[in-house]
Amino acid sequence: ATNRTFTMIKPDATKDNHIGGILGMIEQGGFRIVELQKVELTPERAGEFYAVHKERPFYGDLVKYMSSGPIVAAILEKDNAVADFRTLIGATNPANAEDGTIRKKYAKSIEANAVHGSDSDENAEIEGKFFFGK
Ligand code: CMP
Repeated sequence: ATNRTFTMIKPDATKDNHIGGILGMIEQGGFRIVELQKVELTPERAGEFYAVHKERPFYGDLVKYMSSGPIVAAILEKDNAVADFRTLIGATNPANAEDGTIRKKYAKSIEANAVHGSDSDENAEIEGKFFFGK
């Protein structure tokens, strides 16, 4: 069935003028952009978005990084959206990302990894609502 996932283009990628390149790869990959918004997160809001990682050692840096400049949030539609989008973006650590993936092309490090993709249908819904309401 057609369904949805949620993505963010992260501050390193927006700073380096890769919004268009990344959205192009997303559309080329068969995803329809349903909602799209360029926005800057406060540290409080970045912390809330990533609250699931609160106890992880990288949480403080992640919150600082995600509030360091504009991000682009989007809801994407495609059959099997969550799994197919994770395939398109590649591994969290760009050192392990496959050729042809967004992170292989644009990510700089495990933190500044260019894009976020939801890891489940449930989180896609929660994360989409975080930016776009119902
Ligand atoms: P993302 O898929 O958005 O989910 C959590 C984010 O934390 C991840 O991408 C990275 O930007 C960041 N991060 C930094 N260090 C790590 C790490 N060691 N493991 C996983 N994620 C990390």
